[in-house]
Amino acid sequence: MEIKLSDGRVIPVEMYKTRMVQKLNLIPAKERLKAIEEAGYNTFLLRTRDVFLDMLTDSGVNAMSDNQFAEFLRADDAYAGSETFYDFANAVEDVLGFKYVMNVHQGRAAEHLLVKVFAKAGDTVPTNYHFTTTKAHIELNESVCLEIYTNEALKTESSVPFKGNMDIKKLEDTIKKEGRKKIAFVRMEATTNLIGGQPFSMANLKAVRDMCTKHKILLVLDGSLISENAYFIWKREKGYENKTVAEIVKEMCSLPDIYYMSARKNTCVRGGCIATNNLKLFEQIQPWLPVYEGFFTYGGMSMREIGAMTAGMREMTDPDMAGCSIEQIKYFVSKLVDAGIPAVTPAGGLACHIDAAKFCPHIPQSQYIAGALTAALYIVSGVRSMERGTISMDRDKDGNDVYADIELTRIALPRRVYSISHIEYIIERLKWLYKNRKLIKGLKFVSEPPVLRFFLGKLKALDNWNTKLCEAFVKDHGPKA
Ligand code: F0G
Repeated sequence: MEIKLSDGRVIPVEMYKTRMVQKLNLIPAKERLKAIEEAGYNTFLLRTRDVFLDMLTDSGVNAMSDNQFAEFLRADDAYAGSETFYDFANAVEDVLGFKYVMNVHQGRAAEHLLVKVFAKAGDTVPTNYHFTTTKAHIELNESVCLEIYTNEALKTESSVPFKGNMDIKKLEDTIKKEGRKKIAFVRMEATTNLIGGQPFSMANLKAVRDMCTKHKILLVLDGSLISENAYFIWKREKGYENKTVAEIVKEMCSLPDIYYMSARKNTCVRGGCIATNNLKLFEQIQPWLPVYEGFFTYGGMSMREIGAMTAGMREMTDPDMAGCSIEQIKYFVSKLVDAGIPAVTPAGGLACHIDAAKFCPHIPQSQYIAGALTAALYIVSGVRSMERGTISMDRDKDGNDVYADIELTRIALPRRVYSISHIEYIIERLKWLYKNRKLIKGLKFVSEPPVLRFFLGKLKALDNWNTKLCEAFVKDHGPKA
């Protein structure tokens, strides 16, 4: 919750207390240099023993509540017919308003099933912006993922509150050009991940709904970050200031034909689900569940996780929960902007994003700017962030790099895990790095897998910049920092 102090400062105050802790370890810069070299300049390949603040992702690493842990003990373990599943189905109906639900082992499993059932080779899936795994499933199916965003979406410095909106005119043009039969479904992603956690407005979601109704096209909502999108609507959209986050989530869910989510984010567990009010659609998907995930009352998840997901779903619309990382990110971004460091604005959900191309304008895009900045941040701080730029794009059919629209270093804020002093530490290290940014140079691939290369690909640093950066850091901070 944001609290205004008597000196006028507004600070995000944590509305929870810590009752279990994990010790952190900060290894010195020289050891970090060795660790990132061994990891092939890919922060996914670091071991957590070498990581100080793990801000790779907000996925599956959030702090669970006492109520969620209690569900771990209560869970009814059964292969079929578990009461824990029916408790979950009740929560889905209460919180999201969907009558039919199935679990899947995580968000991408839902994407796999939806693409398998509804998309044919050659079909198009228009989306406000792609997510890596969604695009991979669509393309592996030989369908086309088409991004239909507004002109503002890719501007990293902006004051537009809903950069995750879909461009309605372009959507209609696409439907006319492709023909509605060629459109498998339209996908809207809440708090659009790859463009800096930017939300869409309720008005926009309604306009997309109307267009889909007019042309008889399915609308699918990726609600992995739904409570945060709802929180932004509450804070930013006229007419919603007096509604509750819970009411906004319900209203959002009244619009799509099919809803899916990764449960690793807002509900703080490890799993996912697909939900709908349309029995016919549900019956098209459900037979595939035991083939790829598991029987319909567990769908690849453990019953304990389903129990904890039920509690997480009932808690995720509490504004103290929906806003907990958003307010930390807002604070983080505003401090960076004050220091002249190019963070994505307005501050979004999920993470503080740095515009790496503005941070390091001297690195060509062919040398993976965001990857280099992400590795450099680790060397000078022990903070593990994630590259969300060209490395996160797979090569085209001819083996050429596909340049990302924007090059981002994403410093994720898992929910209820880190404190403001952790954020202050990163801000200070980023300030030093920004002053010394000319020392950062590019990267080159050494090995890369054919799909989702950012997970397992290995790179090397060009011109030995890694060592020079580390030496400069040690000179200013001493060998122990
Ligand atoms: N949709 C969105 C918007 C996501 O952010 C993610 C995952 C998925 C789908 C896939 O879900 O991981 O449970 O299979 N995002 C994570 C991230 C991985 O780090 O941003 P999943």
